[in-house]
This record gives sequence, structure tokens and C-alpha cells, in this order.
Amino acid sequence: MKIIVTGPKGVGKSTIGKRIAETLHIPLFETDEIIESLFEETHGNKKSCRQIAKEFGESFFRELEKEAIKQAALHDWCVIATGGGAMLFSENRIQLRKESIVTLLKAEVDFLWQRMQITGIPPFLQGADAFDQYCQRVEKLYEATEHMSDIIYTISKENEESAHEDLIQQISFILSQWMYAPNTFGQVLKVTTFGESHGKALGAVVDGLKPGIPLSAEDIQKQLDRRRPGQSTVSTQRKEADSVEIVSGLFEGKTTGTPLCMIVYNKDPDSKAYESIKDIFRPGHADFTFWHKYGIRDYRGGGRSSGRETVGRVAAGAIALKMLKEKGVAIVAYAEEIGDIKGERVDINFIEKNPVRAADPDKAHAMEEAIKKAQADHDSVGGIVGCIVKGIPAGLGDPVFYKLDARLAMAVMSIGAVKGVEFGSGFAAARMRGSGNNDQMSNGKFLTNNAGGILGGISTGQDVVMRIAVKPTPSIAKIQKTMDIHGDSIDVSIKGRHDPCIVPRIIPVVEAMVALVVYDAWLLQERIGRYDGTV
Ligand SMILES: Cc1cc2nc3c(=O)[nH]c(=O)nc-3n(C[C@H](O)[C@H](O)[C@H](O)COP(=O)(O)O)c2cc1C
Repeated sequence: MKIIVTGPKGVGKSTIGKRIAETLHIPLFETDEIIESLFEETHGNKKSCRQIAKEFGESFFRELEKEAIKQAALHDWCVIATGGGAMLFSENRIQLRKESIVTLLKAEVDFLWQRMQITGIPPFLQGADAFDQYCQRVEKLYEATEHMSDIIYTISKENEESAHEDLIQQISFILSQWMYAPNTFGQVLKVTTFGESHGKALGAVVDGLKPGIPLSAEDIQKQLDRRRPGQSTVSTQRKEADSVEIVSGLFEGKTTGTPLCMIVYNKDPDSKAYESIKDIFRPGHADFTFWHKYGIRDYRGGGRSSGRETVGRVAAGAIALKMLKEKGVAIVAYAEEIGDIKGERVDINFIEKNPVRAADPDKAHAMEEAIKKAQADHDSVGGIVGCIVKGIPAGLGDPVFYKLDARLAMAVMSIGAVKGVEFGSGFAAARMRGSGNNDQMSNGKFLTNNAGGILGGISTGQDVVMRIAVKPTPSIAKIQKTMDIHGDSIDVSIKGRHDPCIVPRIIPVVEAMVALVVYDAWLLQERIGRYDGTV
């Protein structure tokens, strides 16, 4: 995604482009500067754009400009400030239009002409009718650019100082609209999940992977096996092998840089149990809201709102987990609390050795019993998942809308049954004093981690520590009151194969979503880079 700032000479492209870039913490490329360095590369001496145009003529200048635009367009997540004259050429417009927000700055010609008396009249505009020529050029430029501009903004004496603030607001609005693709997630690494609980298949398409990453179906399968149903007596008895097939984006064991599509076919759907409740809104489920939003719903197993949708998330997350592992980042989630049983110790090596994925060996059995007890009562229990990201460097995440904690919260809150998330001291911070909550620093390190590893939306380099609240499974055999699609009251008892507690199976899903956010933030940071060139 690029922000193109264009407009006639003297309108303030450079200054405004620079301010936007600084506020958004992204680089600015000025095509005039690229033209000058291209000239120096080919001619061995330094000249300003003005001198180049004057000495070599307009057509020579425009050719250099085309090359400069081609080079600028290769960059992503940046501001490109380019002269209005460039927009008169369709090939330049095509280059700049790709994945970009085009901002056209306009102004009264008298205002621009006045300014040019100070900055200098372009060498193409000479003679007695220079002003008329200029007016025509400006008109032509507006004609060529207006129809392809996302934002048209008129600069005047009154607003020129604050124009960048207005523009950033408009850019943010357009970005948020573009992002409206509710089944797709991620900025650089875009993950789209597809499929329904009882449909033919589920899976994910991962776009934006670098080419040449060694990857196999086994890498994905390992994580899917951790999410798979029927793993223990405390999970649903639906019998799905959840075998993944990679159908594109992989060649000779390596990613090709094209969309990687992973499919898991549903083998054991058994939709019979849903026939009798197809017109009934199950309490605690998305039946009521899907019906009101779409007027149609796949009632079999909740369709798209089913926990089975997370197959695609875990498959995509497996790639992110693998990439992060190579960078020394590990993500561990575990059952911190189930029912009213609270874990105290965190023994990471114990997590995969017990059916509830508790990290406290002394509490795992009690947690398992709490689930069985609820099940025996035709009921269910919820719990809290703890999640720690280890080895994350300082500097990942962005200020304002793309805060790392905001993105992580969105990622985990988008998982079915998640009802809350906190970082570090979280809700307890509301009852603390600043002196107790601040993480003081000494001898090059933080003395505590109440911030949960994130300050101002950017990682501190400490562990990212999260806690995620998971509600009790909504499908319970206990009789509950509800209504059908006609509004008639009815009693319902949900039969079928359900997780009596979602916590043990949600753990690999939480890890996958956290990994996708952290890896995406990493890729974004690689594109932005630091001033010293490091990530
Ligand atoms: C991994 C996973 C497994 C789930 N298993 C079940 C289940 O067996 N039965 C059930 O009623 N809900 C289950 N859910 C939860 C529902 O999908 C979810 O609560 C429901 O769609 C309503 O959405 P909401 O809780 O996000 O509002 C599961 C969720 C996840 C993430």
C-alpha cells in the first residue's frame, strides 16, 4: 500500500508528503530526488531537476521521470511525492495507481503562481504567455488525475499548515474501508479462511508469503493434530482426521510466493442432529444474529460461525509459527483456569502432556474433573487461556490504529467463544497505583512486566503476556428457553457431539492467531525498516 501525493508545482507535495510520512512512520520517496540520482548515475555529475529540464529539454526529463516512477512504485508502505506533470502520462498513472491511495492536491492558480515567483518558474514555461500556459497545464493535470484520485484536497493559505492532519484522517478512513473483507486477516501476510462446519471442506489461502520458504504438509498437520476433535474424553467426539492438502503455492517443497491454499475435507459431518433445530435459535450461538444479518444461514453445526472455522486459522498459523521459530520467537498458550480451578505454576513442558493443556501439573486433574462434572450435569464450563510470546524483539507493532496489543486483541477476540483479553497486569491495573504498575528500568532492563511486553502499541522486548477469557460451550444438553425464527417460544436441549469445555482445543487456535499477528508485524517492520537499516 502506497500513498501518492501529487499536484501542480508549488502546491506543497513535498512538505505535506513529508509530514504524512513522519506521522505514519513510513518512508517518503520524492520522484524529483530519484530523477536527480538517476541522472547522476548515467551522466556522472549532479544536477537539479530544474537544470536537467533546462539543459536537456522536457522530453528527456519526462523519460527520466518515467524511470523514476517505476522505481518508486516498487516500494510498499511509503509516501511517494510526485510532480503533477508526471500524471499527464498514462503509464505513470498506471504504475502509481497500483495498491495505492492517490491524493491530489489542488489550489487556485493565482496562489500557485505567486508561490512560484519565489521557488522559480519551471523552465518549460517561458515567454510572455507563461501564466496562460501554466493555467492550461494545471487544468490538464486536474483532468488527468481527478478521476483516479481517492482524495482531492484544496490547499489554501489558511489550511496549508494543518492539511496533512486532515489528509491522514481521510487516508485512515479509506484504509479501514479497504480492509473490509471480513474473512481476510493481516496486513502483509493476508490470510483468508473459508468453509463451514458441515460443508465439503474448510481451509485457508495465505497470500504474501515470500518465495523459497521450505514448507511441507507435515508442518501444517502437526498443528492441526493439536486442534483436531476427538483427542480426549474432554473434547468433542466428532471423528475428523483433519488431514491437510496443500493445493497451490508450493513447488518442490518450497513456497513460490503465490497464494498458498490449504484444504481440509470434512469427513464426519453428520448433520442429522441439526434437522430438528434448523428453525431454532440455539442460546449462546450466532444463529439469531446470522439470521438477522443475512436472512439465510447454514444451520448445520453453526455453519461459518462454528469452531471448525478455526481449522483454516491453525493451518495458516502453523506457517507463521514456523517462521517465527526460525527468528527465535516462541508462542506458548495453556489452560490457566478451567471452571473455578486456577493454575498457579507454569511448567511449559507439561502443557501437551495432559488432556486439558494445563501448565500446572498440580491442577490439571482437578480441571479435567471440573469439565467432567459439568458434562455430567448436562452443562459446560469456560476458563482462561494464558499466552506468552517469548523472544520478541523490541520495536514490533505500530502506534495509533495498528498497536500490537490492539491487533492481538482483535485476533484473539475474533475466535469463537472468546469474551475478553488482557495484557500484563490488565484489568488489575485499574486498581493499582502508577508507582506499582509502572515498569521501572535499571541497568539496561525492565524490572517488572506489568505492561505485558507492549508500550504505546510497540513491543518492549520483554515477553508479551496475555490472558484470554473463554466462555462455557453454548451447546448444552440442559433444557433452555429460546425461540424459533417465527418468534415462538420453545424449550431446547442441544444434543450432538460438543466440547464440554472449549479451552483445551482453543489453545492451538490462540497460538496460531498470535503467531499470525506477530509475524505480520515483523514483515511490516521489515518493509518500514529502522533509520539504521535494521528490522
Ligand atoms: C475450537 C473451538 C471449538 C468449539 N467447539 C464448540 C462446540 O463443540 N460446541 C459449541 O456449542 N460451541 C463451540 N465453540 C464455540 C462457538 O463456535 C461459539 O461460541 C459460537 O459460534 C458463538 O460465537 P461467540 O461465542 O464468539 O459469540 C467452539 C469454538 C472454538 C474456537
